Amino acid sequence: MGVSDPRPSEPYDLVVQQLIPGYASLARLSVALLAASPRASRQGAAVLVAGCGTGAELVEARAQRPDWQVTALDPSAAMLTAAQERLGPDTGGAIHWQQSRVEDLAVEGCFAGALSVLVLQSLPDDGTKLRFLTALAQSLEPGGQLVLVDLMAPERSPLQGQVQRAWLGFQQASGLDDRDAQRAAQTHGPHPIGAARLTALVNAAGFGDPARIFQALGYEGFLLQRPG
Ligand SMILES: C[S@@+](CC[C@H](N)C(=O)[O-])C[C@H]1O[C@@H](n2cnc3c(N)ncnc32)[C@H](O)[C@@H]1O
Repeated sequence: MGVSDPRPSEPYDLVVQQLIPGYASLARLSVALLAASPRASRQGAAVLVAGCGTGAELVEARAQRPDWQVTALDPSAAMLTAAQERLGPDTGGAIHWQQSRVEDLAVEGCFAGALSVLVLQSLPDDGTKLRFLTALAQSLEPGGQLVLVDLMAPERSPLQGQVQRAWLGFQQASGLDDRDAQRAAQTHGPHPIGAARLTALVNAAGFGDPARIFQALGYEGFLLQRPG
């Protein structure tokens, strides 16, 4: 499959589009945000895609910033293989593939920017989320930024019931039946946290406060910076 081919590779790419409002734009928006940052806007910047999955952010990175030196990291061999097939052989050697968890990266100040889309939500908050975020902060140059997109825990609000019903309505309208929706929620976002906990974790990891840059129902995007 070529870089510009938008066909979903089932089942992952189909289910995420049925489950996540705005998924089709997430990668494009995330790459555009990082590309506008002071460090990653530089020609040939080194960029980490943490939890690249089937390659949505990689496709966008190649399209928007073919000059970036991209490290595509994921612990799942199946996901990496799907991403490699999707990107095709014509990546000009600009993608370095790495089968690993972020927590095992152990690099210091290597990247001008990083993307982590829909990964933190799957990690338990038992020290694992903090190790993940700490490794990401350490991997960035001072002043480097991370675009983080995740499913957040529901806030206490009178509108929350309506938001939950709207999410179910979105899934049904997208063709996801109830059983698949429950299974997908378990697989894709079993450990969401709230905004206060996210701020505490990213500060402890070495980032400044998160700046919320977008929200679609429970899915939120944040810009985080390693202090320069
Ligand atoms: C829901 S998918 C998101 C993939 C892609 N970013 C997207 O938006 O389609 C989560 C991915 O994170 C990967 N992952 C899980 N734990 C990880 C970790 N500790 N470090 C890096 N990637 C991880 C999974 O293997 C999976 O491919």
